[in-house]
Parts: sequence; C-alpha cells; structure tokens
Amino acid sequence: MTVTATNTMPKAAAKTPTLAANIARAAELPAFTPELAAEMAPLYERVKHVVTPMEWPHYAPLIKAINALKKERNAVILAHNYMTPEIFHCVGDFRGDSLQLAKEAARTEADVIVQAGVHFMAETSKLLSPDKTVLIPDPKAGCSLAESITAEDVRKLRETYPGVPIVTYVNTSAAVKAECDITCTSSNAVKVVESLGVPRVLLIPDEYLAKYVQTKTDIEIIPWKGHCEVHERFTPEELNAFREADPETKIIAHPECPPDVIKASDFTGSTAAMIDFVKTKRPKKAVLVTECSMASNVAAEAPDVEFVRPCNLCPHMKRISLERIYESLRDMKYEVHVDPDVAARARRAVERMVNLTN
Ligand code: 13P
Ligand code: SF4
Repeated sequence: MTVTATNTMPKAAAKTPTLAANIARAAELPAFTPELAAEMAPLYERVKHVVTPMEWPHYAPLIKAINALKKERNAVILAHNYMTPEIFHCVGDFRGDSLQLAKEAARTEADVIVQAGVHFMAETSKLLSPDKTVLIPDPKAGCSLAESITAEDVRKLRETYPGVPIVTYVNTSAAVKAECDITCTSSNAVKVVESLGVPRVLLIPDEYLAKYVQTKTDIEIIPWKGHCEVHERFTPEELNAFREADPETKIIAHPECPPDVIKASDFTGSTAAMIDFVKTKRPKKAVLVTECSMASNVAAEAPDVEFVRPCNLCPHMKRISLERIYESLRDMKYEVHVDPDVAARARRAVERMVNLTN
C-alpha cells in the first residue's frame, strides 16, 4: 500500500468556493461551552459509563468537528471493534468486525471512506471501492500478522504445495492477497475453507487461527507461522485464575489466541461474534480475551455485565485517535493507493469471499 498526504482541499472543493468555505468552517474546533455541552449531551449519554466527565471536554469539540466534516465531504467512518469508545460510539458510522466493515466498504455511497482501523483494513476498503477516496488517519497503523508474510513467501508456498489452494486471512497486504485464491476473516474461515471442495488447503498467515479452524473441519489445514502480538500474550493460567476467582465468569476468546487459551475458554468467535455472545447471553461477569478497548465498547451498551479486563492493547489500532481522524478529514490525508495490477488480483480474492458470505 502506498499512502499520500496532499494537505489540500479535494479538487471539487477547490473549484467551489462555497464548499471550500463550508469545509473550513466545519474544521473549526469549537470551545467546550455550556451550549456545546448541551448539544453533545445525547452523544455523551452513549459513552458515559466508559468516558469520564474529565475526558469529555477534550473529546466533544473534536467529535463535533469530525461529524461536521463528514457531512461536508460526504464521508463515512468505518470503525473496527477495537477503536476506543469515543471513536466507536461517537463518530463511527459503521462499526464491526473485519468482514462487516469490508461489506460496508463495498456498498457505501459516500465519496470518502475513513478507516478507523489498521492499514490492511484500509487496503481492503480500497480494493472493494476503487473509485472512492480511502483515508487512513495514521499510515503506520500496521499489524504483526500482515507483517509476518510477503508475496514472495506465498509464491514459494505455491511451488512447495502445487495445486493446493491458498486461503489468506484478511490481515495481510494487498500484495499477499493478490497471490492467494480467496480471503477469509475470523468469522467465516471454516466456511471459506469448506467451500473449496478439496481435501487440503493452506491457511495463512495466522498459525493459531489455522489450528482453530482445524478443530472445526476434516479438511487438512496447512498453517503459516504468523501470530498476532496481542492475542499470543494471553495464557490459560490467567484465564483459569479468573474462573477460580468466580466460577460464573464467562471466558470469551478470539481465534487468534493460542490453542491452550481457546481450550480454557467458554466461547470462541470473531470480535462481532464475541460481542453478540455478551449481548444475547448477558453473563454476570465476562472476560473478553482480545484487545481491551472492545470490553469498553460493549460495556457502554451492556452496563449490567461486569467485565474483568486482562488488558492487552494493540499498539497499531491505538494509533488511531480522534485527533488523527479530525486531521485526516480536515486535510484529506493519508490517501490509500494500491497498484492497479495488484489491486485487480487481490480484489478477486476478496470478492470471492464477500460473495460467498453474502
Ligand atoms: P475480527 O475480524 O474478528 O474483527 O478480527 C480482526 C483483528 O484484527 C483481530 O485482531
Ligand atoms: Fe493485527 Fe493483532 Fe492488532 Fe488485530 S490485534 S490488528 S491481528 S496486531
């Protein structure tokens, strides 16, 4: 992926003085006056369980400006479940796991997509909406899984395993996707693998996701050795300690966790499936074995559930802040570009997955 920062108004705005003036007005950061506090009160209501009254005067002006800029630029913000609550609940137009966000990127009618997530997600949005402007507020928001494999590695795998289809987790670069047959996410990996109608598949790059899928299917899964730096840190011992402290605690894990952690859990699923489990089962106490902002996002909507938080932050996701989203929409930076040849091949792999799960 390449990214550019133009620091200029988009062409249409430059040609239309009124639009340029409206954008400049929308970008003005208001002071936190009693009037602004009253205007923003309905948004604060959404996050009051997880955002303190001390923090709100800092967030509220940024939220107001971001929402005004979205309107002027006909932009939408796609917010991953790992965003902090003030982003997730107050400026995100569409919220969800990787699959839900990819589907939304394919169908949105906005001119601009701001990806509140990491760069493989922004690239996926660009693949599915090639004519739209896709922005990532911080181009350094990477992913240890995406960095664990290159296009050259995939070409070598093809030589080593001739005729074996290659399924890639979406947590990879467009260049890697371009070398693969189909993508998958944590919510549809088993379905994608089984859709291929073959006895053996390569599932890259997350070794633990591959091992988890292997427990759900008779198809032989050949893994790669990539790991998520956030999920690999959890241990079964810490989860067992939570359960011993209160046997009613439900332990809910993401499939990027190591196998012994998944074994120590009550439920495993994508970030969306984990949220769904909490919202429908309403356990008294829950441990979300994943990035820690997710518990805050669910807590804002399920204040009756007590979350025990083994807090592992994703340093890449945490590069996305309200300030950076605001600057991104104000200055139209950083625009995501994918080489057209790579994009055409990578798009085929992503669309194959989207069509399968639609
Ligand atoms: P989900 O598709 O479950 O949201 O996972 C994305 C991710 O990066 C998890 O670490
Ligand atoms: Fe990548 Fe893990 Fe961060 Fe998800 S949580 S973006 S898999 S490093």
